[in-house]
Amino acid sequence: MPGVVPPAQGRQRRPGAVGGVAPQAARAGAVAAPRGHGGQPRDTAAGGAVRAADGAAGGPDPQEGTAPREEPPFRVGQEIDVAIEDVAQGGWCVARPEGLPVMFVRHALPGERVTARVTEVTSKFARADAVRVNQASPDRVTAPCPSAHPGGCGGCDWQHASLPAQRALKAAVVEQQLRRVAGLDRTVTVEPLAGDGTAADIAGTDDMPETDAIETDAIEARPAARPPGLGWRTRVQFAVDTQGVAGLRAHRSHRVVDVGDCLIAHQGIRDLGVTAENWSGATGVEVASGGLDAAENYAVTVVEDAAAGRASGPRPGAKGQPRGRSRGNPRGGRAARPRRTLAAGRAFLAEQAGGRLWQVSADGFWQVHPAAAGRLSQAVIEALDPAPGDTVLDLYCGAGLFAGVLAPLVGQDGAVTGIESDPAAVRNGRQNLADFPWAGLREADVADAAGDPELASCRLVVADPPRAGLARAVIDYLTGDSQAERFAYVSCDPATLARDLALLIAGGWRLDQLRAFDAFPMTHHVECVATLIRLR
Ligand SMILES: C[S@@+](CC[C@H](N)C(=O)[O-])C[C@H]1O[C@@H](n2cnc3c(N)ncnc32)[C@H](O)[C@@H]1O
Repeated sequence: MPGVVPPAQGRQRRPGAVGGVAPQAARAGAVAAPRGHGGQPRDTAAGGAVRAADGAAGGPDPQEGTAPREEPPFRVGQEIDVAIEDVAQGGWCVARPEGLPVMFVRHALPGERVTARVTEVTSKFARADAVRVNQASPDRVTAPCPSAHPGGCGGCDWQHASLPAQRALKAAVVEQQLRRVAGLDRTVTVEPLAGDGTAADIAGTDDMPETDAIETDAIEARPAARPPGLGWRTRVQFAVDTQGVAGLRAHRSHRVVDVGDCLIAHQGIRDLGVTAENWSGATGVEVASGGLDAAENYAVTVVEDAAAGRASGPRPGAKGQPRGRSRGNPRGGRAARPRRTLAAGRAFLAEQAGGRLWQVSADGFWQVHPAAAGRLSQAVIEALDPAPGDTVLDLYCGAGLFAGVLAPLVGQDGAVTGIESDPAAVRNGRQNLADFPWAGLREADVADAAGDPELASCRLVVADPPRAGLARAVIDYLTGDSQAERFAYVSCDPATLARDLALLIAGGWRLDQLRAFDAFPMTHHVECVATLIRLR
């Protein structure tokens, strides 16, 4: 495996399979799901409004770990034949067995009859896996990944559905959330991204949208040939078990599954062979592959428990330019954050989107799908329709992606302000925007910045918050003194999106367009871009 340097504790090949590793107790919220847009955690789940929104049955939230209050009607391990009715948020399907509480079933599809094995029970509902398909949906396919099965890797939810069916399921979930939470009846179409079966993929042409405002040249992203739906994930967080095996977590569990190979991972990540190495002493290995096809445009970061006080650091003479980066509390202790050390590759990755090059810290946020940054940028431009001289506010701006594609469109008579709380992202963003002196980034919490009267005059606003959705202060800003006329809301969580849309609509905004993109094939995640227009 070229270039990857495991932690100093052990570079021996791993001793064997992980069969002897004791499974950890299943715990709520431990899903090894794609982390935000970028393999990074995008905040914790949203609050009560979101929970109320979850679950197609309009009942309890299948993600919630409610303690049973009375003798449950199901027991773990029980098998029951059920008819699958609908899809629910989070990669679940819904069954309502007669006389019994609702069941949330994974590995199933709407319209199927399956034998479901109960995996968890609460007083209100059960979770289950479809272990036998007695009547299959025409949308069912053989999962490409051998680890995508009940009890296997929890990273993907819909490997057993065709790609068009996956998109239809995600569209149904977005529609449900809009209807239930915001009272909006919308027909949603989830659009594939380049490489995953777009019309242009099928025709063999480039589907990158054209714009006369953004200069597209030789550095424009061209999707690499890959099987549709696979090989897209440019950020992967592997968990490491007590034997030093790097794998992915089982669903709703801390158990590390030795996947060997992750088929949705980008080829640049798979080529590093991280899962073939022994990572004893580490708790995780984060791997990122930059979009620009440049030598060593990747990063392997070892995560260790800072409290354990282990020695760590890249092996001397490692390939690339390893630079140790410690974020842990040097005093250790319970509150210490995990220590992260760049073990191989580069501290900064080169990305490409919207006809420009971008520099992003290896552990900073960037869209995980290679085509997502360009496609979402284009959708934001279409949503805001900027003109020369416009003033723009980019909230939760990361390394400046949207600010950077909007800046040339508003020109030097306009102004763009980005707000971002991560200091490293702000440093990246300032470099990325250096060509546009009229575009600046502020390091601040959006909740604080939104109250700044200076920002009230911005005519166009874009926000791309973590899963928790918009801070209340942002809603207050948008529905209060702000002069904003158009708002592009980029969201990776349909439930918080619906919650926020309800508040914005109540506060004088109208939902114009709502687009959805399949930026996370094989998983239940979906990216939306809502266009809102202020009613005066
Ligand atoms: C989903 S990312 C979007 C980044 C950027 N729009 C992009 O597509 O590359 C969300 C960003 O919000 C930042 N963030 C999260 N909470 C924040 C807060 N309260 N105030 C400011 N920035 C925040 C994160 O650091 C992250 O960079």
